[in-house]
Amino acid sequence: MCGIFGIVTKNEQTLGPILIDAARRLTYRGYDSVGAATISGSHIDLRKDAGRVDDVAAKYNFAEMSGQRGITQLRWATFGAPSQVNSQPHLDSDGDIVGAHNGNVVNNVEMRELFMAEGLTVRSQNDGETCVHAVERYINQGKDFIEAIRLAYGDLQGDYAFVIGRINDDKLYAIKKGSGLVVGIGDGFTCLSSDLPSILPLTREVIRLNDGEIITLWADRVELHLVKDGSRIERAPETIVEEMSAVQKGGYAHFMLKEIHEQPEVAREVLHLLENNTDVPRILETIRDARQVYFIGCGTSYHACLAGAVYFAQLAGKAVIPVLAPQFIPQYLPAIGSKDAGIFVSQSGETKDVLSALQAAQEKGMTTFSMANVIGSTLTRGTSAWLPLGCGYEISVPATKTFTNQVITFLYLAARLGGRDLAQFDNLPELMEKTIAETDPQVRALAPAINAWNDLYCLGYGATYPMALEGALKLKEITYAHCEGMLSTEFKHGPLSAITDGFPVLFAAGPEDVPLIVSGINEVTCRGGRAIAIGAPDSRLAANASDMITLPASSPEVAALLAVIPLQLLSYYMAVARGFDPDFPRNLSKTLTVD
Ligand code: G6P
Repeated sequence: MCGIFGIVTKNEQTLGPILIDAARRLTYRGYDSVGAATISGSHIDLRKDAGRVDDVAAKYNFAEMSGQRGITQLRWATFGAPSQVNSQPHLDSDGDIVGAHNGNVVNNVEMRELFMAEGLTVRSQNDGETCVHAVERYINQGKDFIEAIRLAYGDLQGDYAFVIGRINDDKLYAIKKGSGLVVGIGDGFTCLSSDLPSILPLTREVIRLNDGEIITLWADRVELHLVKDGSRIERAPETIVEEMSAVQKGGYAHFMLKEIHEQPEVAREVLHLLENNTDVPRILETIRDARQVYFIGCGTSYHACLAGAVYFAQLAGKAVIPVLAPQFIPQYLPAIGSKDAGIFVSQSGETKDVLSALQAAQEKGMTTFSMANVIGSTLTRGTSAWLPLGCGYEISVPATKTFTNQVITFLYLAARLGGRDLAQFDNLPELMEKTIAETDPQVRALAPAINAWNDLYCLGYGATYPMALEGALKLKEITYAHCEGMLSTEFKHGPLSAITDGFPVLFAAGPEDVPLIVSGINEVTCRGGRAIAIGAPDSRLAANASDMITLPASSPEVAALLAVIPLQLLSYYMAVARGFDPDFPRNLSKTLTVD
């Protein structure tokens, strides 16, 4: 997810400890490399490498760095592997300009070729360097910084924010386009960061930037310009009065609600990471050629494995065994050999059950890959390749955004293995946004009636079956009600006896499964139960279900993914109405490092 921080002070001073602390505050976003640069007079001191903040800062002695301006950046590899040369900040060709970015420059490859053809010195594959050269070219033509940044903005496609400065000057410049950027006004200094919480320990006077704005920072003042015409605009700083925890929640009542709303944004991020991930072809080849493939996880991550197995069979014709990690050893280990492959899935990358299965699989010679949110976790360090989920820190104990990104990762891999049209992913984040906006009021309206019950069922079929299990897990985790997730067709083989007047049963319906779901709905409603259908607009569902939560129309695979969103929202609103804190449910822990 990357993060940038910059500071401008009046006189030269030791900036290293300030930069290290700022970098530490950005680590929650997820990263694999860290760097810092200070500028004093005609000298730029640049130190950086792949690794954790504390390790890299100690190895290169960031603490001693001094200057009148400083920049630090945490990088999460997209363009270019995690390495020293690809770490940020970056210098321009002759080393008198330094800058760093957060975000993705999608025409990075084309821009680098252009720079090289023009004779600029390109040292890395990283798109942060591209931002620096994009400005440098116009500075070389005699433009001033504001003008050069405006012209670079026209060349750089994608969503990003970057900060840049040069020697023999007293300012830093920054621009926002799609990625976060907040400026702080302190006593004798100004600073900027990718997010507000990392500025607050330094100052509570802040200016939030909008997309298409350029800011110039001096130690004692700032100036804002519009990219579109270069005109100057005024914006008074605001004073942040909220507590840090409220600020971190970004205006939402709970982290869970914030994380539900972050799903479209992180979906965009993971799709971008996948498109540029150089391990993906090897992972797909191994899966294609493997004798048997296993997707292994626990809890929510296991549900993503179930969805992944459905997608791999449906879209790529590849049968996969999804398995709960602790069951992997007793059930499958005797059958495992070196021709088999597995993807181990975990938000934290530290779940003991998953790590034990990984170790056992590796002892039998299985080729192992991982999918995790926490890069640098034991899991990602233990497999031959890993796929990052790109969600940033997920604070709420019930997983939401990491689940949808796990499912999206599997869907993307399956579509790519099956040679499907990847253009279907282009509007996925928008569909998720629409789903949140449209289902939120519908869910709120229904929640009180469902909340009157302490027992409910959540059913699905095909690709929506794993979503029903996940929805039921969310409901159990935070409402403390008993909710069972099941295959819809199994309901008649026993649980149907639970139906009494008004008993709620949720049905997640994929567009191709409507006739089967309608049968299930009628088995419930004719016995007095309340059947709540979740699906795209469909007259058959509307005519038969007691209530309908309507999703935007989409493909069957995407419809399944969308169906989990109202279930997340439902569990959230029910938990809050019951007076429970959805972020920290009783007895549960975000990461289980025990058997
Ligand atoms: C714990 C958490 C669950 C999570 C599971 C697996 O039980 O409470 O929310 O799904 O661990 O965690 P992982 O980090 O491996 O995805």
